[in-house]
Amino acid sequence: MAIRLGDEVPNFTADTTEGRIDFHQWKAGKWAILFSHPRDFTPVCTTELGAVAKLKPEFEKRNTRVIGLSVDPLEAHERWVQDIKDVTGQTVNFPMIGDPDKAVANAYDMIHPNASDTATVRSVFIIGPDNKLKLTLTYPASTGRNFFEILRVVDSLQLTSKHQVATPADWKSGEDVIIVPAVSDEDAQKRFPGYVAKKPYLRVTPQPQG
Ligand code: BEZ
Repeated sequence: MAIRLGDEVPNFTADTTEGRIDFHQWKAGKWAILFSHPRDFTPVCTTELGAVAKLKPEFEKRNTRVIGLSVDPLEAHERWVQDIKDVTGQTVNFPMIGDPDKAVANAYDMIHPNASDTATVRSVFIIGPDNKLKLTLTYPASTGRNFFEILRVVDSLQLTSKHQVATPADWKSGEDVIIVPAVSDEDAQKRFPGYVAKKPYLRVTPQPQG
């Protein structure tokens, strides 16, 4: 069954390129990105894994761990790492789950049989420190993902989990944000003095700090 926003994500134990993990223990208290790619030794996936390795320091700054998955065995992941380094210059610096029996892929509904019976789609799950699902994305095998967008969403999720704000279209960290409708005008004036009401329901304020 599909996992929906707000659900606690299934726990699992799995063999990864960094050893056997219990997923909930591995991410304990942190944000996590679990992302799948269709197969090892495929061109788009090779570029994606290099892109994520390059962004690892950005995920770390955000108290966020990343972990990849495909239905290929660990032994294939281990051989593929050298190709990723050759092509992208990046050393894969996060665990990759080998899931040949598709236990994790099925638990997270990453196989979409009308796309492929055997390969995982390009899923992304952003999971909060509370183990609840905060975002899911599904891309087809033919389209590589934009991992800056995933970072941008983490920024938005982390901000909106602390402050009663939402982020507008194409927002980037540091830009103005929207005061959520649940905050009365009176409270908004106290919390966000000088906010601008573009419409009664669209009140804009500088991004809160901290
Ligand atoms: C790729 O990663 O390049 C890829 C994987 C499966 C199907 C098509 C492309």
